[in-house]
Amino acid sequence: MSFRTTPSVDYVEDVSPGSGALPPRAWYAASDAQSLSLNGSWRFRLSATVDAEDDSFAEEGYEAGDWAEVTVPGHWVLQGDGAFGSPIYTNHLYPFPVDPPHVPTENPTGDHLRVFDLPSDWPSDGGAVLRFDGVESCARVWLNGTELGEFKGSRLPHEFAVGHLLKPGGNVLAVRVHQWSAGSYLEDQDQWWLPGIFRDVTLLHRPAGGVGDFFVHASYDHTTGEGTLRVDSDVDGRVTVPALDIDVATGETVTVAVEPWTAETPKLYDGVLATEGERVPLRIGFRTVVLEDGLVKVNGRAVLFKGVNRHEWHPEQGRALDLETMREDVLLMKRHNLNAVRTSHYPPHPAFLDLCDEYGLWVIDECDLETHGFTEQDWRDNPVDDDRWTPALLDRAARMVERDKNHPSVVIWSLGNEAGTGRGLTAMAEWIHDRDPERLVHYEGDWNCRDTDVYSRMYAFHDEVEKIGQRLDGGTHRRRELPFIQCEYGHAMGNGPGGLADYQELFEKYERLQGGFIWEWIDHGVKHAELGYAYGGDFGEELHDGNFVCDGLVFPDRTPSPGLVEYKKVIEPVHIEGDGANGIVRITNKQDFADLSALAFEWSCQVDGETVESGSLSVPALAPGESAEVKLPEPPVDGRGGERQWTVRALLADDTSWAAKGHVVAWGQFAAGARPLPSFPATDRPVRDGNRFTLGPAAFDARTGALLSIGGVEVSAPRLDVWRAPTDNDDGAEWQTDTRYGTLWRTLGLHRMRHRLVSVEAGDDALTVRTRVAPAAREVGLDTVYRWTSDGERLRLSVSVTPEGDWTVPLPRLGVRFGLSEADSVEWFGGGPGEAYPDTRAASMVGRWQSTVDGLQTPYVRPQENGARADVRWVELGGLRIEGDPEFWFTARRWTTEQLDAARHRTDLTPGDTVWVNLDHGQHGIGSQSCGPGPLPQYFLKAEPAQFAFVFSTTR
Ligand code: GAL
Repeated sequence: MSFRTTPSVDYVEDVSPGSGALPPRAWYAASDAQSLSLNGSWRFRLSATVDAEDDSFAEEGYEAGDWAEVTVPGHWVLQGDGAFGSPIYTNHLYPFPVDPPHVPTENPTGDHLRVFDLPSDWPSDGGAVLRFDGVESCARVWLNGTELGEFKGSRLPHEFAVGHLLKPGGNVLAVRVHQWSAGSYLEDQDQWWLPGIFRDVTLLHRPAGGVGDFFVHASYDHTTGEGTLRVDSDVDGRVTVPALDIDVATGETVTVAVEPWTAETPKLYDGVLATEGERVPLRIGFRTVVLEDGLVKVNGRAVLFKGVNRHEWHPEQGRALDLETMREDVLLMKRHNLNAVRTSHYPPHPAFLDLCDEYGLWVIDECDLETHGFTEQDWRDNPVDDDRWTPALLDRAARMVERDKNHPSVVIWSLGNEAGTGRGLTAMAEWIHDRDPERLVHYEGDWNCRDTDVYSRMYAFHDEVEKIGQRLDGGTHRRRELPFIQCEYGHAMGNGPGGLADYQELFEKYERLQGGFIWEWIDHGVKHAELGYAYGGDFGEELHDGNFVCDGLVFPDRTPSPGLVEYKKVIEPVHIEGDGANGIVRITNKQDFADLSALAFEWSCQVDGETVESGSLSVPALAPGESAEVKLPEPPVDGRGGERQWTVRALLADDTSWAAKGHVVAWGQFAAGARPLPSFPATDRPVRDGNRFTLGPAAFDARTGALLSIGGVEVSAPRLDVWRAPTDNDDGAEWQTDTRYGTLWRTLGLHRMRHRLVSVEAGDDALTVRTRVAPAAREVGLDTVYRWTSDGERLRLSVSVTPEGDWTVPLPRLGVRFGLSEADSVEWFGGGPGEAYPDTRAASMVGRWQSTVDGLQTPYVRPQENGARADVRWVELGGLRIEGDPEFWFTARRWTTEQLDAARHRTDLTPGDTVWVNLDHGQHGIGSQSCGPGPLPQYFLKAEPAQFAFVFSTTR
């Protein structure tokens, strides 16, 4: 009989990085040495505490027949249909008492078991290494009953030497994973807490004389056009690069003429590092990163980052991403003109960096470190300022740098995120600078820039960014010499972010501003049977931060949101502006490295939004920063006399690895003449007929003046509407110092306006309805006059609004809302194809667009105002044609604004019988106040006297 004692669990709360693992080294996907993936189905047993079970499961011969199964890579809380616990979402609060390094007794612990045979051709010589690419948060590992060690550092690789333990068949790999550990204190990123073996597990054969660690140094001298290569290797060998005729010993330096690597021109050279026992493929990109003249320069030129923060996310797999999903991210980024990624807030799966090398994206590789929850206690006991934790911090820095150091795409190392300041961070920065002086170091949390090579901030408002650009922001001497980036800005939560174009203008104006990274790439919605996508609180968490986890440029299923489309336009690599009257277009190459030879240009001319002629435009292959004026052809002759405009597009001239020939990278539009406004002679007079008035094609309730029908189309009467379902940006984050209008609007009662009828007057040529629209309990109001006229065929509504009382807040919207009983397809001439608001309208292209009512909706994970189309000249739906004088904002949905406002998830919205249409004269800006500035003053919808009109006719 064998007896086992409960294993010591001290390691769980030990601040040291772990024991038993090999020193970190460069990661590579493949070599000619054999490997065996241990991904797949594993036996799984969940316990409530770290010591509920002894470690006998690690023994050979253990009977795990009654255990459940989970898929590795994966998170157990996302498997088993809730049987294995649930995800928890908190932004910065630790979901356990802050009592470092202690963690709760309730510490979900997953025992994982996998029995495997070696392939029959597995070599009998040499050794073997077992590699874990990511386990959250702490793991203890046994092979064939022998303990290998334990480790923390969830998004970092750990390798163990196992050659001496392997046998041809029946190897038993046992991994005990604890959700909480001392490491959790270092991993307080704003995301779901998701335990599990969530990245690959691989057994690597290590042949005798195989490659150990190696460091590819490949620099580029822009003055000579030459690249210099040196591969330092623990194990001596040779380096060959056939395309460059390079065949040198490791450690030897060679200089040859090369094409450099940049994110715009990601030239990679295939090479091989061959030691006596192994051949490792290399993908070499020559580039040099320096801090010079107070700027981040690559290959001699300052770079403008048009970036995004990317968490790893999949709505079903959590942070266990497959290669295709990673590739989809990269392709989407490239297709939307992004050139940079910050791997917030941990090193990504290493294959993602291979893709960044290949397709071309600048990368800020960030360490797996955040201690944000300590801010609640003024950073007391912060691990980054406590020497006992420094070995763990250095271990994390080393595991990141050693793993990722051979990627040309990685130009900046980041120490981590929101961890306050402290000696531990300084130690990390010193270690990184020493180990890799060929890259720069970033960290946002220290505004004095003691340890960093760039001054970085998050969510700085436009005016402050401008001051920084002008070098008027002061700061330490060190900081004043550094370039500036916004490592996070443009908080993409819900509808928005607004104000991106205004930021981009600043970035392009001031040399010191080297761009920024939108927060963030993807909504972390969890696919959910009843709710569609779940967010914080949907799993009954006792502490959570709601839908703050859904703040991405793409929806959880990776459909681009309007925010991504807007960003694509704002950062387009070519600027196209025109002087329509003189038929001249000015083209500017806004790239940093590439000329325009990859692009073809095309002009088209529209009359009333319909393209009447188009052709190609010859544009010189301008160098970066250069502009040229190009003459457009003679405008086509067209007798219709409608509104004329030019559209010029820049397209990919050929297929690329990331998009096909013809993909639009940039466009510009400019008027060739003013829009003729609808002319409208009021010829008819209102006629009383019992309890009705008729006026031209329309019927009205004689008592209330409410419109009942136009032609055969029944409507529920248009009346003034100022309410919109507040967006996340309207509501603003609770810590915001700017005014949070979402709350003020509700306090004032703008969501429950009352309409008092003052008079209905039938005049000679108009039916005039006077009202006062105001909320209960307040003195403010909007004096609103509806004036109806007709030319016999059509009906015109002119609305005039005069605010009364002391309006101290802007209006959410200003226009009319009415209901249609039957409407589905929609056609309009105006901005499209997607939604737009005053400060998110750069990508709105004027043209003729078609959709359905359902297709007009933007599926924000938490329902809120969405779907407005800007600059609408006319729209047709439900048998009506509505022309604007002036242009208007158009919205239509199958539920009311009040229902939209009340919904928490998309599944709360059920279509009713009526389609509700909003025709707005104005919309308040969107801003980015869910974490950042509100709308800039120029995008405010002030309560001011306003007058606007619509002409209605029937299409049936
Ligand atoms: C930042 C933080 C991010 C995220 C963002 C708000 O402060 O670095 O991780 O929390 O705010 O969504």
